[in-house]
Amino acid sequence: MDATTGANTRAGKLTVGDNNWDFPIYEGTIGPSVVDISSLYGKTGLFTYDPGFTSTGSCESKITYIDGDEGILLYRGYPIQQLAEHGDFLETCYLLLYGELPTAAQKADFDYRVTRHSMVHDQMNRFFTGFRRDAHPMAIMVGSVGALSAFYHDSTDISDPHQRMVASIRLIAKTPTLAAMAYKYSIGQPFMYPRNELDYASNFLHMCFAVPCEEYKPNPVLARAMDRIFILHADHEQNASTSTVRLAGSSGANPFACIAAGCACLWGPAHGGANEAALKMLAEIGTPDRIPEYVRRAKDKNDSFRLMGFGHRVYKNYDPRAKLMQQTTHEVLAELGIKDDPLLDVAMELEKVALNDEYFIEKKLYPNIDFYSGITLKAMGFPTSMFTVLFAVARTVGWIAQWKEMIEDPSQRIGRPRQLYTGATRRDYVPMSRRR
Ligand code: CMC
Repeated sequence: MDATTGANTRAGKLTVGDNNWDFPIYEGTIGPSVVDISSLYGKTGLFTYDPGFTSTGSCESKITYIDGDEGILLYRGYPIQQLAEHGDFLETCYLLLYGELPTAAQKADFDYRVTRHSMVHDQMNRFFTGFRRDAHPMAIMVGSVGALSAFYHDSTDISDPHQRMVASIRLIAKTPTLAAMAYKYSIGQPFMYPRNELDYASNFLHMCFAVPCEEYKPNPVLARAMDRIFILHADHEQNASTSTVRLAGSSGANPFACIAAGCACLWGPAHGGANEAALKMLAEIGTPDRIPEYVRRAKDKNDSFRLMGFGHRVYKNYDPRAKLMQQTTHEVLAELGIKDDPLLDVAMELEKVALNDEYFIEKKLYPNIDFYSGITLKAMGFPTSMFTVLFAVARTVGWIAQWKEMIEDPSQRIGRPRQLYTGATRRDYVPMSRRR
């Protein structure tokens, strides 16, 4: 048993040329074991080389487990299907933050604490008006989430456990408000204050779709769908944005700045931006008869086009979230009386064609969560530019739970990878007059 990690340990041997070195191997509760190579450079003078971190465990964590071959996703041990079916998003938030499902009293207290923090400092309204109206809402999220650290000084001392928890609750409570403000700002409508009597998802729909001049009643089926979408996106172990949050936090940066860094990373089309990209792709394909052309392009090495919403670094099986998302899509379309959605027709046919295509079978490329989420969000009334923002709202709890876990880990140090240097070796400065 290793004293630092608490994991079972066995010895491993590394042989390079004629030399042998011993390195401990730690066993987790499930999943692949890891070789602890933190002493590798000291013992051997070698670094490891793993661009894209395909074989690197960057930390020890107790939060989320993915079995990519089997298509399993567990939050604190609980299957995502069970949480999505029986619980609500704030219960999932509690679970991710505290490690256990809440009792009724703990849940009521947690709901109250989050709800009480949903308003943002009134000066934030002025901050928003500095943005162009046509700014991408993710650009506004990166700026406004980071700006929270300028408004809430009393929760930026990361050495104080109470302040860490207050910052965590504030972030879970305020990102939906900022997201809704980003949307309202882009369409020129007044900001809607949160309504504390509504649940988290209904309140979010209210802040996005209500206007001050008439009463708005959130549709409970759509609110339930929104809540489930939040649960499905809440955490996903050490993905790019979570690793970004951890790396930013490893230097001691405040939690608001770290979550802003997570938003920036999530924005990219290979990560959270894929839901927007997937819907644009489905619209571009337009009709099922054009699918073969796009599948051919996706397989062509000389064409940069990829099927958006397909493939995953970890899942080499159906993404369990995609299955739940597909079910939610059907529920939302049925509730809204949308019988024929051309995008859904294209999506379902594309999925069928790809799943039966040798290229996708051989590379184990399955639909991921982003494949169906866009269709659902569009039907609910969100513009494509808001899709990644909704992902950011949901993932905030995962980011903050992982950030807290890292700060509270006694073995935590600043993240500082090394490199394989292939640039110029030492050379002398040449005055400009002598440069060719
Ligand atoms: N369409 C066509 N070919 C693909 C696709 C795709 N969507 N995804 C992977 N491939 C091919 C890729 O060309 C490569 O082929 P080869 O081995 O011949 O070079 C092989 O499959 C492995 O791909 P990779 O890029 O090395 O895999 P990765 O683990 O580095 O990338 C990924 C994972 C998700 C970035 C990638 O599958 C992708 O770009 N998918 C489309 C974007 C997307 O849907 N992203 C959302 C991910 S899920 C939500 C989230 O985590 O944010």
